[in-house]
Amino acid sequence: MSSSCQKLQGYEFYQKVLGGAKLVLAPMVDQSEYAWRILSRRYGAQVCYTPMIHAKMFCDEGNKQYRTDVWSTGKYDRPLIVQFCANDPEVLLKAALKVQDQCDAVDLNLGCPQHIARRGHYGSFLQDEWNLIYKLINTLHENLSIPVTAKIRIFPEVEKTIKYAKMIESAGAQLLTVHGRVREQKGHKTGLADWTQIRKVKYIGLESIAVLFIYYSLHLTDMQMKLIQALKIPVISNGNILYFEDIQRCLDVTGADGVMSAEGNLYNPAIFANMYPPVWQMAKEYLEICRTVPTKIAYIRGHLFKIYQPALPFHIDLREQLAKVNTFEEIFALSEELRERLMKTAAESGKDTEIRKDENGFKIFPHWICQPNIRTENGSSKKEKKEVIESNNLSDTLQREQDNNANNDSKNDNSNNSLYDEESTQFTVSSLFVESSLIS
Ligand SMILES: Cc1cc2nc3c(=O)[nH]c(=O)nc-3n(C[C@H](O)[C@H](O)[C@H](O)COP(=O)(O)O)c2cc1C
Repeated sequence: MSSSCQKLQGYEFYQKVLGGAKLVLAPMVDQSEYAWRILSRRYGAQVCYTPMIHAKMFCDEGNKQYRTDVWSTGKYDRPLIVQFCANDPEVLLKAALKVQDQCDAVDLNLGCPQHIARRGHYGSFLQDEWNLIYKLINTLHENLSIPVTAKIRIFPEVEKTIKYAKMIESAGAQLLTVHGRVREQKGHKTGLADWTQIRKVKYIGLESIAVLFIYYSLHLTDMQMKLIQALKIPVISNGNILYFEDIQRCLDVTGADGVMSAEGNLYNPAIFANMYPPVWQMAKEYLEICRTVPTKIAYIRGHLFKIYQPALPFHIDLREQLAKVNTFEEIFALSEELRERLMKTAAESGKDTEIRKDENGFKIFPHWICQPNIRTENGSSKKEKKEVIESNNLSDTLQREQDNNANNDSKNDNSNNSLYDEESTQFTVSSLFVESSLIS
């Protein structure tokens, strides 16, 4: 018998099960694993997604290793949404049934833009097959004891995105995450996410100014607000979150119910808490969690490369070692060594804690502070790093050394993984010029 009528739906599910969450940790292959979710929740994540799990591989009895690698959770790991990619409704259902007792919803990935997703026929490469998507979502809606949700990318045409979102809702999705980029926006073409499209998915037929005016000046009731919403289910906005302040700006502009962060959280796991802690503090806390929660070395290494990203160009010997070490204890020792070096530099640099901004509006942090990773179009962050160096009065030699190595950052980052095989979400400085209001 269908269980869809007994479970909570839409806003009731969002309020009662997800606690009306505004701050959402994104699904990230190899990076939103259990240990990372524990850390992110400590620093404000109110709902977490697992990494995308390949439904067919997950169901393959001959591939137990995959299941162990991608799926682990614990008592306090809630609210939790498990994300799958799939193109066969029965396989998706089989996979979802295996996890439904340990999570709060199952999500369908319709946003992955990578070559591997094209080859495997999943993620954003399903976005033109609406009948199949309907079936995938509806099968979960009809047969799971928990709600189904979906994460999409937008189309170039906003009307199509709205129709698409409504189709997904009609299939039974109880929450929709909208990543405001089209499928082609990946790698060096990533650019900015389009918050205005997300706003139109949320509020149909009305321009944002009118909506915001009505909302703030007339204080419409929840019931009245629902009348002007395109969807009856909650919408989570995804994209363009570099700093804590961007969260509120995103909520204001899009009218979304919550905001999801991926990269912003990886480089600063305390972004939701409006904190910019020292990199060594986040690294140590994460490693202590990994001591208690078995975590693949590749995931740990990937996280440390990101947390320590601003500092590693200043300690190239340790960066090279981090790419090679294979045991937890080796990684821990390396992290301790880096911590000692950075604490010494920080202590010597004095107590100037004022946060300055460069001419593009990017905040300038010392290299031992967690901060967003901002890249230029060719993938290097030479200009910004130069300014960081100058602001910290470090030597020209160090700067030259860093410039030479800036382009190697991603090569040495072994966090790349099989299902998301290329960086998809880099901001580019030139595109941020256009919308410099993004960063106040
Ligand atoms: C390392 C990494 C892994 C990702 N893995 C997934 C994934 O498993 N599922 C998914 O829907 N999106 C995945 N994404 C995309 C993010 O969830 C998010 O949509 C995208 O990064 C834009 O958000 P951001 O601007 O906050 O980074 C991944 C992104 C990164 C950087």
